[in-house]
Amino acid sequence: MENITVATQPIEGQKPGTSGLRKKTRVFMGPHYLENFVQAIWNGIGGVVGKTLILGGDGRYFNDRAAQVILRMAAASGAAKVIVGQGALLSTPAASNLIRQHKTDGGIIMSASHNPGGPDEDFGVKFNTSNGGPAPEEVTNAIFAATESIREYQIVETQDIDLSVVGNQTLGDMTIAVVDPVTDYAALMETLFDFHAIRALFSGGFRLRFDAMHAITGPYATEILERRLGAAGGSVVNATPLPDFGGGHPDPNPIWAKDLMDHMMGPDAPDFGAASDGDGDRNMVVGRGIYVGPSDSLAVLAANAHLAPGYAEGLMGAARSMPTSGAVDRVAEALGIACYETPTGWKFFGNLLDAGRATICGEESAGTGSDHVREKDGLWAVLLWLNILAVSGKSVAEIMADHWATYGRNYYSRHDYEGVDAGDAAKMMAVLTSRLSGLPGQSFAGLAVTTADDFAYNDPVDRSRSEHQGLRIEFEGGSRVVFRLSGTGTVGATLRVYLERYEDDPTLLDQETMVALAPIIAAAEEIAGITAATGRDAPDVMT
Ligand code: G1P
Ligand code: ZN
Repeated sequence: MENITVATQPIEGQKPGTSGLRKKTRVFMGPHYLENFVQAIWNGIGGVVGKTLILGGDGRYFNDRAAQVILRMAAASGAAKVIVGQGALLSTPAASNLIRQHKTDGGIIMSASHNPGGPDEDFGVKFNTSNGGPAPEEVTNAIFAATESIREYQIVETQDIDLSVVGNQTLGDMTIAVVDPVTDYAALMETLFDFHAIRALFSGGFRLRFDAMHAITGPYATEILERRLGAAGGSVVNATPLPDFGGGHPDPNPIWAKDLMDHMMGPDAPDFGAASDGDGDRNMVVGRGIYVGPSDSLAVLAANAHLAPGYAEGLMGAARSMPTSGAVDRVAEALGIACYETPTGWKFFGNLLDAGRATICGEESAGTGSDHVREKDGLWAVLLWLNILAVSGKSVAEIMADHWATYGRNYYSRHDYEGVDAGDAAKMMAVLTSRLSGLPGQSFAGLAVTTADDFAYNDPVDRSRSEHQGLRIEFEGGSRVVFRLSGTGTVGATLRVYLERYEDDPTLLDQETMVALAPIIAAAEEIAGITAATGRDAPDVMT
């Protein structure tokens, strides 16, 4: 085994986004691309000499090859130990748990989340710090700076390391510990939820359909839902992770999980349906005949979390990303706890969770989680729902009706315009930004604007400030529209338009979402001129 130094040059564009560095797989496979970025991580975090790291990914195409490179580079730079999920697999929440449980110095997750996988699709590398959460901006900035000044990287030459068998081996002076990806995570879930009650629910004939979308949660869901909790065999479908996710988008929403929606809206629907994304941190929840939007799901989980043993003592606080609906705010108010509004991206919840200010967090993009790890957690949300259903004895539809009757309903939808010309999108946002201060007092499609601003966040824990996190325009009566550009896309720009309307009239709680939102949608178009600016007359995706 030889330790070699390879001369290289900075490669443009290696700037970590909302969730690590995401690029086309072929870009990552290009000469020095992965190596440069991994060396920049080491350089950006002050080296890895003597450190212990976690490594795993969602199993997408190139996951296995990238793992070999990262291990060889960790050994070359003096890491003491890398704990790797068997087959180089780990869901994102399971990786976060391992980082915390083994008190390591951080970890690398190989994933592009819900983006498709394959040689012509997406790949990604993300560094998480020792608290188990995505690296905060000061760290990603340091990593980015290191990509811009890199001149060489270290790597050892060796045969492929066998990651298929659990156990310890060495690579030079570094220990490689291959662990079962599921065991520790499943044990953590058993400490949080009433497995006894959920088992009783299933033995009473409750039927579940969990769609793993050919992605990483298959093995986790099969072990926990079928083996430990007794859901009928075959309740977990598409359970084998595939490098191309079976050719689909492993994105749990009504569009990409249409097959699950069809089952849940069909004549012989199971009691509960759920899905998770490529790396297992997102979730979708759907009851028999009723889809539960992520913002509503967050509110319901916050309102009922005390029914689960891990949260029996109540919540210390709640947090949501700014574009997420205000449904959880009303729950927090009723519970008498704080509710924080953060920029988009899970990393902003880390400080609140670490400081004990928030217990439950969520985003409108199908992410919910708690202080048990420092990532959002798809299966966690599914288990909390099951726990609530088991203890309350209610159906999903009953829970939603009760919730809206108590708190009112925040009708909500997100419209995405994908692959828009980046210049056009930036221009539209710039024009809108310059007009913000003049909007209050004006009416659009009959809705009077009360406030309009460019969202900035002052972190209450470390006092850092994050600016330009989305343009929000509020109307009389608590409705609003938010405009934001995606930070995770790999082609052009993605414009996200978030639409929300609050309703507490008991006779108006049962409308079709798009009907309820029609006035807000019209106002958004009138304010921003989306069609003229993007050349699109309809969004590509509506969730
Ligand atoms: C998207 C979601 C955001 C989520 C992120 C990572 O980011 O909107 O809520 O945290 O993916 O899963 P965006 O593309 O909007 O920057
Ligand atoms: Zn994900």
